[in-house]
Amino acid sequence: MGNIKPYLSQEQIAGRVASLGKQISLDYRHKPVLLVCVLKGAVVFFADLLRALTIDPQIDFLQVSSYGMGTESCGKLTFHKEISADIIGKHILLVEDIIDTGFTLYHLKQDLLNKGAASCKICAFLDKPARRKLDIKADYVGMEVPDEFLVGYGLDAGEQYRFLPYIGILTQQDS
Ligand code: IMP
Ligand code: MG
Repeated sequence: MGNIKPYLSQEQIAGRVASLGKQISLDYRHKPVLLVCVLKGAVVFFADLLRALTIDPQIDFLQVSSYGMGTESCGKLTFHKEISADIIGKHILLVEDIIDTGFTLYHLKQDLLNKGAASCKICAFLDKPARRKLDIKADYVGMEVPDEFLVGYGLDAGEQYRFLPYIGILTQQDS
């Protein structure tokens, strides 16, 4: 394991998830929503958020990787798993672990709207605004974080640390 400095405790995470759940339940109380988990990093947050809702959403999953970072805005998303539900006319809420450059969510949102979703909003547990390269804002944010590399609560570094129940700053990579 690398060196991990605790950043957000389980209790702090639970408090933020509860208030996001309340707000989302209120905003979507008259509108059926399709809650979409952006795999893999959002999986832990997604399961907690789902149980913090007082509405009963449909759920689905997608997995993408993004290429073209740093090469203007002409990069591409590669889908490893597509949403299996019919999305035409649906109100989608994308659930992501963190927005960094904004590349993934910017292109994902465009793609889902192009494919016929009625609306597409974004809920990101963490937001690193200092790193943003594309003009995209999450509609729901758990917490703004500084430009540090965070792990735990689903977030990984080379597929490690996802299991940690808290969020920490990775201060030293494994050698
Ligand atoms: P974006 O397309 O640059 O916004 O990248 C977002 C993706 O990069 C997230 O879904 C994460 O998988 C990953 N990522 C960005 N920052 C971190 C971090 O601090 N820790 C772990 N993964 C991160
Ligand atoms: Mg991710």
